[in-house]
Amino acid sequence: MTELAIIVPTFNERANVAELVARLEHLLAGLRWEVVFVDDDSPDGTAQAVRTLAQAKPHVRLIERIGRRGLSRAVVEGILSTSAPFIAVMDADLQHDETILRPMWEKLKLEQLDVIVGSRYISGGSVAGWNEQRVRMSQFATRLAKHVVRTELTDPMSGFFVLRRSVFESAVRRLSGRGFKILLDLLASVPTPLRVAEYPYRFRARLEGESKLDSGVMLEFALMLMDKYISQFLPLRFFLFSLVGASGVAVHFAVLWFAFRFLQTEFWTAQTIATLTAMTSNYALNNWLTYHDRQRRGFAWVSGLFSFYAVCGLGVIANVGVASALFIREGWVLAAAAGTLVGVAWNYLASAAVTWRSR
Ligand code: GDD
Ligand code: MN
Repeated sequence: MTELAIIVPTFNERANVAELVARLEHLLAGLRWEVVFVDDDSPDGTAQAVRTLAQAKPHVRLIERIGRRGLSRAVVEGILSTSAPFIAVMDADLQHDETILRPMWEKLKLEQLDVIVGSRYISGGSVAGWNEQRVRMSQFATRLAKHVVRTELTDPMSGFFVLRRSVFESAVRRLSGRGFKILLDLLASVPTPLRVAEYPYRFRARLEGESKLDSGVMLEFALMLMDKYISQFLPLRFFLFSLVGASGVAVHFAVLWFAFRFLQTEFWTAQTIATLTAMTSNYALNNWLTYHDRQRRGFAWVSGLFSFYAVCGLGVIANVGVASALFIREGWVLAAAAGTLVGVAWNYLASAAVTWRSR
């Protein structure tokens, strides 16, 4: 039986995988272990490099995901693919110090911990090769994260940790799965508090390949925190959708004013232009923010826009229908409020089912 599985997400890490495997083999000699690389169809041929290794070494495995991206979800799939009772997660780029892997695992077992985390920020730990800005960003994000997830950890943002399979299983159905921070996601998703400890290490500078942390990853991080925070009250997507809807009202009135008062068009022309503009900006914003993880691009962006027009058109009919039915008995304020509510709910549910249905 495999005792320890090391899950390694990869994107463009061809130059690093062989060296990582060699180091793991050296460190884990005599144990029953496997390493599972989860590659998101890297253009640099990482998957082929792993396959070549796997042909010679039975403890090397590969999962290849086509048409999907995302560190956290890659890790989740890697864990699901193994039956080892202990799971380690680490990066492929040799920035995580593999020599603490075995001591971390032993401490986890000895002290009957649930999770043990490689930390850059307890004494003995450090970061090499990061500029001032990246250090400050990381500290800021860490502080932000601690507001949402109550934890004693100094480095809840770490991507380097060992845990028991049972911990993962208790959280897996509630994971947000967004972005880079799988540990944070796990901590925020377990039903009961965990026994955790940290282990210091020196975060090394990257020698081969480059970091994938970009503005998109940061937005995903912010969305994951919001998801954990807001979803106590209402679904994050509905919150963002309503926010975008409110911005649409502002866009509508601005365009209406411009066309009707400034360009002096007829009212119905101005109203039509304003409605179309607001629907289009709502679509673009929802596509970028509310459905960041399902973004439509290229031709799909255009076809999505038309399906969104259709959804909103029916929303208007539902809105007016409900409002007219209530108008005589309930008065205009209540009728309008009920109509709007039904319209928004319809737009939200129908666009989720049609425009941004998960493929
Ligand atoms: N499968 C897959 N899909 N892997 C990915 C993806 C993806 O979309 N994006 C990145 N990876 C892989 C990289 O190939 C690498 O092995 C690992 O995930 C980390 O990516 P880096 O781009 O090197 O991230 P970093 O060095 O800026 O930050 C890492 O270390 C920090 C400290 O532990 C991450 O692990 C952070 O989460 C962590 O805080
Ligand atoms: Mn890295």
